[in-house]
Amino acid sequence: MTEASVTPTAMESHGGYNLRSQVQAAGLTPAVPMLERAASLAALPTGPQSLVIVDYGSSQGHNSLLPMAAAIDVFRGRCGPDREISVVHTDLPDNDFAALFHTLLNDPDSYLKSRAGIFPFAVGRSFYEQVVPSGTVTLGWSSWAVQWLSKAPEPIPDQVQISYSRDEEARSAYASQAKEDWENFLRARAQELHAGGKLVVLTMAVDEHGDFGYKPLVEALYAALLQMVEEGFIRSEELHRMAIPTVGRSKEDLLAPFKTDGKFDGLQVEEAEIFYGEDHIWAEYEQHGDARAFGMKWSAFSRASVFPTMAEALDPGKDNGRLARFIERLDSDNAARLAQKPEPMLIPLCRMLISKESE
Ligand SMILES: C[S@@+](CC[C@H](N)C(=O)[O-])C[C@H]1O[C@@H](n2cnc3c(N)ncnc32)[C@H](O)[C@@H]1O
Repeated sequence: MTEASVTPTAMESHGGYNLRSQVQAAGLTPAVPMLERAASLAALPTGPQSLVIVDYGSSQGHNSLLPMAAAIDVFRGRCGPDREISVVHTDLPDNDFAALFHTLLNDPDSYLKSRAGIFPFAVGRSFYEQVVPSGTVTLGWSSWAVQWLSKAPEPIPDQVQISYSRDEEARSAYASQAKEDWENFLRARAQELHAGGKLVVLTMAVDEHGDFGYKPLVEALYAALLQMVEEGFIRSEELHRMAIPTVGRSKEDLLAPFKTDGKFDGLQVEEAEIFYGEDHIWAEYEQHGDARAFGMKWSAFSRASVFPTMAEALDPGKDNGRLARFIERLDSDNAARLAQKPEPMLIPLCRMLISKESE
């Protein structure tokens, strides 16, 4: 493996992300009214063809059920019960699409329950390129996904998360990658949305003080990794490659492509707001005082989302169960460190409503 080859991989498989993504579920909920507003304002295709909702970065689907149902219900309110609706879930090729389809069929909260004429599809292809045909999308949704870069541009010498690195060269490389990826994401959506279509994006962000949040979590994770190096469980070269390719963008970063005349490739921003996600793990801790449960739940958040990508940095070759042991050790050590000093976690997010210009 070369240093430059660190790319995001899918979330924890075998439905693991569905089980351990309550922080994301809580964080996306305040963006659902924005999605409903977008669905009520989106221009609808004339003629009988189906409406198309695309969910960019769906993972295993559980957290998509609420927003998709909300959007479908607004469309049904506008068009009546007979208008067919396609729901396209997109993610990276390694995503656990089996878990996604089982969720759609079996989860009691699935938008397929008690709604006829809804057709789900899936696409395994990066959203940094066009993934559905031009001009076909009525409504787009993306939550907790565009903070993932297309690749880690270079190693981070003093951290695994760029926001807490002091290395100027690495910070600047990440900032350039973040700019390029955001523009590519928007360009591809501009191509896919039909005239008057809408897109809602919920993403990790930095707040007005430039704070990415999650500080106790990132510190615990990095300390656990340093200890693994010290004990010889992983090599320092492996840790050096272990960059988490996520960024928090500021509101200014997210609005930058629209700076010149308020438009970017025919898209324009209707609303953009930084807000803080609810730390329900801290709220529960305040109720029960169980520090161990606090540590385990926050570690589970990392395990489900970033551990698989970090594990990609381990030396390839005969595994002999090392990868599984790495995940288990990192999880338990991280959880134990967090339990030593429970603290509330800052969760800066941004919700944006973007429109494609009408014809
Ligand atoms: C943290 S999960 C979010 C899942 C769900 N939308 C939610 O709100 O909980 C991020 C998802 O984005 C996907 N993702 C990351 N980079 C991607 C890319 N370039 N193209 C498509 N999906 C991507 C990941 O594979 C992952 O499933």
